[in-house]
Amino acid sequence: MMRERLRTAILISGRGSNMGALIEAARRPDYPAEIALVLSNDPAASGLEAAKAAGIAVAAVDHRIHAHREDFERSMDRLLEIHRIQFLCLAGFMRLLTPWFVARWHGRLINIHPALLPAYKGLRTHERALADGVKIHGCTVHYVVPAVDDGPIVAQAAVPVLDGDTPQTLGRRVLTQEHRIYPLALRLIASGAAVMADGVVRIAAADQEGSRALIQPLDS
Ligand code: GRF
Repeated sequence: MMRERLRTAILISGRGSNMGALIEAARRPDYPAEIALVLSNDPAASGLEAAKAAGIAVAAVDHRIHAHREDFERSMDRLLEIHRIQFLCLAGFMRLLTPWFVARWHGRLINIHPALLPAYKGLRTHERALADGVKIHGCTVHYVVPAVDDGPIVAQAAVPVLDGDTPQTLGRRVLTQEHRIYPLALRLIASGAAVMADGVVRIAAADQEGSRALIQPLDS
């Protein structure tokens, strides 16, 4: 018998293209996670419409009507409980999370970052990579810890930086890979192939081929 699918919520603030990639992947009946809720801090986030159109339950918890960050997070947490959510994916979620929330979801909360961590934490990653003249750039899915853009790495993909790249062209190349590694990372975790221990994620040998195939600059 197939094990229960991991009830996952995606937290967004904007267009939600990574959310779309996760929803698409989870359509397959053999995918080990289901997207049970899409939640945004911004009721106007365009990703909410897309999720609704895909038949997913959506909700918004407007951070602006909460006096304190923790109140906002407690409201979100209540909703997550109502929907019996077991796992969270941040996908362009633009609110900093408090240590309380991060601790509460420890080991059950991942994020995607548009750079090869631990390089280029923070914002404007493509612009900064271009300014430094790096030749390889990429994206990372990682577990969330209290420090921003830090935490055990689940999956990464590299892309070449090409002559004449702008932050936009480079960003598009990275985004294509984001849409591949986010569903891969969630699959590895939900199936039990990826296990976090001592601050590092280990991937079961049988599943490593798929992740290795992503580290191919020529592929992108
Ligand atoms: C992505 O580049 C992601 O890496 C970053 O925010 C962006 C969100 O894009 N965390 P989208 O909303 O998933 O299209």
